[in-house]
Amino acid sequence: MTELLTVSGLSITARLAASDLRLLDEVSLEIRKGQILGVVGESGSGKTTLARSVVGLLERNVRVDAGAIELAGTRIVAPGVDRTHQVRGSEVGMVFQDASRSLNPLLKVRGHLAEVLRRHVRDIDKAEIERRSVEVLEQMRITDAARVLDSYPHQLSGGLRQRVAIGLAVVTRPALVIADECTTALDVTTQTKVVELFRSLVDELGIGLLFVTHDLMLASDLCDRIAVMSAGRVVEQGDAMTVLEQPQQDYTRRLLAAIPSWS
Ligand SMILES: Nc1ncnc2c1ncn2[C@@H]1O[C@H](COP(=O)(O)OP(=O)(O)OP(=O)(O)O)[C@@H](O)[C@H]1O
Ligand SMILES: [Mg+2]
Repeated sequence: MTELLTVSGLSITARLAASDLRLLDEVSLEIRKGQILGVVGESGSGKTTLARSVVGLLERNVRVDAGAIELAGTRIVAPGVDRTHQVRGSEVGMVFQDASRSLNPLLKVRGHLAEVLRRHVRDIDKAEIERRSVEVLEQMRITDAARVLDSYPHQLSGGLRQRVAIGLAVVTRPALVIADECTTALDVTTQTKVVELFRSLVDELGIGLLFVTHDLMLASDLCDRIAVMSAGRVVEQGDAMTVLEQPQQDYTRRLLAAIPSWS
């Protein structure tokens, strides 16, 4: 059993007043431990739908028609099956685009970490919460962990807030992390640092990472493999360099051609 995440033939439909809309169409992909899969594609291609389906955060009008999602060999999603609540936040961590919105403005960083740890780690005591909170901030390359623990979100820079959000996703020691456009709101320098942090976290902790981005350059810097999505389908996937240097599909070529510095 080498695959951590296996999505096979996943089809998802949204019910609308007038008709049904296919959001994902027979999507298949895998992620192994220690591997980063980039999911790229233009706006509306289904990247967020795919990311959210793994953690069961789809909207109420959306249902799984066919296919399955397995996490370490256990089926967590299939038509009529949803076991995502058993893994969400524990075995699968999540980081979304806007850290400022995912953090509670009234809660210090210490409170955020304590809340997540209490929810997911049985019988954890105060001393252990403190130890793991400091540990995870250090893993996030935050040098002044004591100050950050005692800060409210608004007292931190955007980059630090996003590091805290990533820390919240990994403090429960998940096997898989889902990141959806989590660097999009950051400036380029901060973006680069966050990308480096993800790479070292994946290498050190052996987690798998599903990294959603519309930014192909970023994906090429970070990812081992890339899946290209268009209109709810994966049109091309493979080793990152191969996909980017020898794209097989016109759609991928057009995405690449749209990047000014790509040659
Ligand atoms: N609950 C829903 N009901 C109806 N349509 C939906 C629903 N959720 C998503 N969609 C539609 O499905 C398509 C894919 O949306 P999705 O958010 O997955 O795209 P995306 O690739 O993440 O785009 P972006 O790059 O803009 O974030 C879009 O056309 C969107 O409007
Ligand atoms: Mg999206």
